[in-house]
Amino acid sequence: MTVPAAVGVYGGGRMGAGIAHAFAVAGSTVTVVETDAAADAARARVEKSLAKAAEKGVAVGGTVTVVTDPALLSGLPLVVEAVPELVELKHSVLASIARSAPGAVIGTNTSSLSIDVLAGALPDPSVLIGLHFFNPVPASDLVEVVVGERTPSALVERAQEWVRGLGKHAITVRDSPGFASSRLGVAIALEAMRMVQEGVASAEDIDSAMTLGYRHPVGPLRTTDIVGLDVRLAIAEHLERELGPRFTPPQLLRDKVEAGQLGRKTREGFYRW
Ligand SMILES: NC(=O)c1ccc[n+]([C@@H]2O[C@H](COP(=O)([O-])OP(=O)(O)OC[C@H]3O[C@@H](n4cnc5c(N)ncnc54)[C@H](O)[C@@H]3O)[C@@H](O)[C@H]2O)c1
Repeated sequence: MTVPAAVGVYGGGRMGAGIAHAFAVAGSTVTVVETDAAADAARARVEKSLAKAAEKGVAVGGTVTVVTDPALLSGLPLVVEAVPELVELKHSVLASIARSAPGAVIGTNTSSLSIDVLAGALPDPSVLIGLHFFNPVPASDLVEVVVGERTPSALVERAQEWVRGLGKHAITVRDSPGFASSRLGVAIALEAMRMVQEGVASAEDIDSAMTLGYRHPVGPLRTTDIVGLDVRLAIAEHLERELGPRFTPPQLLRDKVEAGQLGRKTREGFYRW
C-alpha cells in the first residue's frame, strides 16, 4: 500500500504546508483547511514549496488545494491536523474533523501533547494516531508514529505503510512525554548545558564531541540555538513535570532566556550568530 489517493491536512502553516507537500509528491490529492485570515499565506507557502521541488526535478504526482470550509474534508480516509500546539484548539479542530469526515483516520502532528488526552475530544478515540513530522518536512526522513492507549494495532501498521509511501522512515513510539525524539534530544542538550555551566569544555568543543565523535550532523548546543532556547526551556519544564528532576533545566539555560539570549533568532545563545 502507498499513501491514500486523497488526504486532508488541517492547518497550512509551516508544518501543514510541508505535510501537504510530502503527500502531493507521493501522488495524493491534498485538501488543506485553513482560516480565512491565513488561507492566502498558506497557498503561497505550498506553491513556493512545490515550485522548489519542481526546480530540483522532483516529480509532483498530486495536487494541493487550500480551502476554508472543513466540510470539504467529507469522505477523505485520512486527515492530518497541524494547527498550533494548544490543547483547546486541537480539541475543537479534532471534533470538527470528526464531524466533517466521519470515519476518517486522524493523524495529529502534535510535538508534545498526549495522544490519549487529544483522543478524548473524539466520539471514536480509536481513529487518532500521532504522526509527528519533522521540520522542514520535505527534507526530513523521520516520522514518529505515536500510539495511544486506544489506537488499534491495524491502524499502527497502516500508518507505518503511509510513512513508507511518503519515502520516509517511521519509528513507532508509545504515547509518552516527549515521545522518543524530544526526550532524547533534550536530554543530551541539557547535559551539554550542564557541562558548559561546570566549565568542562567550551560549547564548540562539546558540540564537536558529538558531531565528530558520534557523527551527529549538528551538535546539541548549536541545535538548541537553532530551535530557540525559550522553546527548549519550555519543553524541559514540561518533561520535568512529567518525568522528574532528570529534566530540570540548568540555571545557565534559565539565565540566558531571562537575558533574552534565545539563540539564532536573537543572534546570541550558546553561539553568536
Ligand atoms: N515547527 C516545528 O518545528 C514543528 C515540528 C514538529 C511538530 N510541530 C507541531 O506542528 C503543529 C503546527 O506547528 P507549525 O509550526 O506548523 O505552526 P504554524 O503556526 O506555522 O501553523 C499553524 C497553522 O494553523 C492554522 N490554524 C490555526 N487555527 C486554525 C483553525 N481553527 N482552522 C484551520 N487552521 C488553523 C494557522 O493559521 C497556521 O497557518 C504544532 O502542533 C506543532 O507542535 C511543529
